[in-house]
Amino acid sequence: MSSKLFNVKLKSKEKAYECSSADSILEGGLRHGLAMRYECSNGTCGVCRAKLIQGDIKQTKHHDHLISSEDKDDGEFLMCCNSPVSDVEIDLDLIGDVKSIAIQNIETKVKSIDFINSNMAIVSVRTPRSKTLQFMAGQDVELSFQGKKSRYPLASCPCHGMELEFHIRNNNTDEFASAIFSKIIRDKSKIYLEGPKGVFVLKETTKRPMVFIAWDSGFAPIRSLVEHAFSLEMTNPVYFYWAYPFDEQTPYLDNHARSWQAIMDNYTYSPIGCEFDRSSKNDCHKVAKYIFKNLDLDIVNQSDLYVCVPAEVLIYLGELLLENGLNESQLIASPI
Ligand code: FES
Repeated sequence: MSSKLFNVKLKSKEKAYECSSADSILEGGLRHGLAMRYECSNGTCGVCRAKLIQGDIKQTKHHDHLISSEDKDDGEFLMCCNSPVSDVEIDLDLIGDVKSIAIQNIETKVKSIDFINSNMAIVSVRTPRSKTLQFMAGQDVELSFQGKKSRYPLASCPCHGMELEFHIRNNNTDEFASAIFSKIIRDKSKIYLEGPKGVFVLKETTKRPMVFIAWDSGFAPIRSLVEHAFSLEMTNPVYFYWAYPFDEQTPYLDNHARSWQAIMDNYTYSPIGCEFDRSSKNDCHKVAKYIFKNLDLDIVNQSDLYVCVPAEVLIYLGELLLENGLNESQLIASPI
């Protein structure tokens, strides 16, 4: 039978999304960027309970979590196990902000490590099916392997809490990264995850243009934020400035950043190659200047600005921006 699209309206939230009858109400909502609460996606935990106010749904998956007949009569159902068969209105509690997400501890397994070049790796880990990570786009987590710990931003979308992606630069002061590049951590290694952490998240209700600035692997949380904005169907103009080491010719996922041109009408991408001496801390000033001189200040000063660069670069860049008309409230920053 072919699938049909139905409208799912959220009671008292002025939000609605289209959901296919082939998808669960949870899958449809996550795909549209809604911060729905869930954990297992398979009917075990009960975290995705919602209430049907109007319309009809169909149970498409068996669930072990029990809902009493009284609660069922009251309209309660599990979003991960039911699909719409008409337009529906439901009542549920969305995640309001980062503070309402509990820190989770999850044992994951490395699914793949893709070495982009000799010192940049894209690492994907998988959570158990019954324990996915609840997080907001832009947040980070702590990863640990045999006592080697480090904090990395998530590059993936919160709609895939079971498959998590990290962009890890080789760095001899980071033991976890060194274990990746010396191949001590490899496919199927067990990695412990603690998080989510951080407040680098999207201002979802703003109508202002959004300017994103990343240095190198600062692309990871920016990617999560931009793709989240796209899922939410935000129409704000998006400008992305990606600074990278000049000797690498292009940013490490240049094609990915370019590909957003095909999905967003109002998207401008500017890679910025920076020449600097990796061994000199003073060159952070130089990198900040490179970035600053490439920015269009007329746009920046009327936008929300999301910046993910090293702390030293952030200090210099922040000073330059604030001296040149940016208001502090426009700046959302996360040092890498
Ligand atoms: S029952 Fe766990 S997410 Fe639905």
